Amino acid sequence: MIELKNIYKAYKKVPVLKGVSLKMEKGGVYAVLGPNGSGKTTLMKCILGMVLPDRGEVFVGGESVIKKHSYRENIGYLPQIARFPDNLKVEELFKMISDLRGQKGNSEDLIQRFGLEKYLSYKLSSLSGGTRQKVNLVICFMFDAQYILLDEPTSGLDPVAMIALRKLIEEKKQEGKIIILTTHIMDVVEKMADEIIFLMEGKIYFQGDQEKLDELTGSEGVEASIAQLLLKEEKGKNDSSQKNGFRFKLNKVAL
Ligand SMILES: Nc1ncnc2c1ncn2[C@@H]1O[C@H](COP(=O)(O)OP(=O)(O)OP(=O)(O)O)[C@@H](O)[C@H]1O
Ligand SMILES: [Mg+2]
Repeated sequence: MIELKNIYKAYKKVPVLKGVSLKMEKGGVYAVLGPNGSGKTTLMKCILGMVLPDRGEVFVGGESVIKKHSYRENIGYLPQIARFPDNLKVEELFKMISDLRGQKGNSEDLIQRFGLEKYLSYKLSSLSGGTRQKVNLVICFMFDAQYILLDEPTSGLDPVAMIALRKLIEEKKQEGKIIILTTHIMDVVEKMADEIIFLMEGKIYFQGDQEKLDELTGSEGVEASIAQLLLKEEKGKNDSSQKNGFRFKLNKVAL
């Protein structure tokens, strides 16, 4: 279980998260959606302890994690932008991560799934963007963590790698793991997400499954529904009574 209680976070007094509360209890795929800059990465980093909230609490597996470290052993993380020393070879990177983590990890199976065998002796600096993403995915999944946080996992992947990733996520879901992912690709959400969390202007506008989202917006499909949410919000800015009415409806359905 992962729970965020009333999280506030501002960067240099600019608020990003303004009272975010969220509960992810069951195993499954939770898609965190929202426009660029809406705070999706910040929210993930709060769960990881890489960003310290100004207020609020984060619980992982029922325990408060603020300023704690050991719970991270239960988390696999794919950062939106991963930076590793460029002169390392792929195989050296996997070894370094295993050494840091103090566990061997199961990279062989993942290397095969993502077709990375021939790149093991390549330096990271010589890899294409998509191949780097595959390397990062191996690192994220190699320790069989209970909680898997994927920040834009499909970025740069070719269709073969996309299928491999989907299969992997599906397997983790069957094992009862909690997978949180962010993406701007609605097709990925439709195919994979059990629950959608829509973040905008520092608040959660919606949490629920795709059916509930369609019902709320009167649209069909995640792309159309999210577009509706954005359009209504934009329209509501010019019409405060409608905005309040829509917010009320959202809160009623989402909470
Ligand atoms: N370390 C930081 N210092 C200052 N501002 C930051 C920092 N990290 C993020 N921000 C700001 O916080 C806001 C939210 O950023 P965040 O990266 O969480 O958004 P996001 O929803 O992940 O966006 P994207 O869809 O582009 O990945 C943005 O306005 C960003 O500029
Ligand atoms: Mg982001």
